[in-house]
Amino acid sequence: MLILGLESSCDETAAALVTGDRRVLAHRLAGQEAAHAPYGGVVPEIAARAHVEALEPLIEAAFSDAGVTLHDVDAVAATAGPGLIGGVMVGLVTGKALAHAAGKPLVAVNHLEGHALSPRLADPDLDFPYLLLLVSGGHCQLLLVENVGRYRRLATTIDDAAGEAFDKTAKLLGLGFPGGPAVERAAALGDPRAVPLPRPLKGAAEPHFSFAGLKSAVARAVGQHGAEDIAASFQAAVVDCLLDRTRKALVGIEARPTALVVAGGVAANGAVRSALQALASEHGLRFVAPPLWLCTDNAAMIGWAGAERFAAGLTDPLDTPARARWSLDPNAAP
Ligand code: KG4
Ligand code: ZN
Repeated sequence: MLILGLESSCDETAAALVTGDRRVLAHRLAGQEAAHAPYGGVVPEIAARAHVEALEPLIEAAFSDAGVTLHDVDAVAATAGPGLIGGVMVGLVTGKALAHAAGKPLVAVNHLEGHALSPRLADPDLDFPYLLLLVSGGHCQLLLVENVGRYRRLATTIDDAAGEAFDKTAKLLGLGFPGGPAVERAAALGDPRAVPLPRPLKGAAEPHFSFAGLKSAVARAVGQHGAEDIAASFQAAVVDCLLDRTRKALVGIEARPTALVVAGGVAANGAVRSALQALASEHGLRFVAPPLWLCTDNAAMIGWAGAERFAAGLTDPLDTPARARWSLDPNAAP
């Protein structure tokens, strides 16, 4: 089975060719960091235009890397949301056109499902159900991944996503964009106990997340402490919150999960990964984190989610809409 995967929901344009037996034959990616850097965040209009320009050449390059053509694929998988609607439309419309032209089925993939299933691309032994901490620039959720297409959302953020907090902190500290890697580098040089910062919702009964108060506290600390100490203290506070909330969810699950899994851009953070690793071993659970390139947005995870859905008989009509908001859990608000 061979799937073409397309991703364009935020600021990465990507195309990949993935097989049903977990081989990534090609994965091409074009970031837009330089275009958005002057604004300190992703500008939707700039993103959509950049996706239009980048996507076709990336698809051609991916086919050439893999030495296959459109006629060799079994299905075309494209992100259909959630995300910046202009960008989502570029990838989805392209996917529909290719599927239609080649007479192949379309698989409309939820971007979050791409992140949620990506650990299974990297780890053939990862079985359902697993507890997933999905931490990215747009989302911060705890999901019980029960099967392909079956996700129970146990927690979400009531304000900012964890990655967003990293990006805003980087902006406040003048560290540039995207903020996560810059904050992590600065944090390595600072003292995590130097700046007293809050741990929003730590100890709360429901395992939800909140990061807005932390960001405000960082804003107040700017000028009173060095950037490296603020970065280190901020990162320690985020790790504390993620850990506390994940522990809360773990204790509340009735059926024992096979593993604790982390995915999404913030999963690239070393401190986050090692704290979760420790939590998993505390509970006698396996810890799974995809390789760094698979944590941040890419099309291999969309191709893989497409492969899992296609194998389960889940394909979509060509009039499937692009969605700015789209919850993975039908019982949870988007
Ligand atoms: O999953 P992703 O590539 O895009 C979304 O779907 O949002 O996640 C991007 C987010 C950004 O907020 C970025 O700052 C954060 O992931 N990030 C990190 C690190 N690398 C990326 N956050 C903390 N530490 C990192 N090393
Ligand atoms: Zn993402």
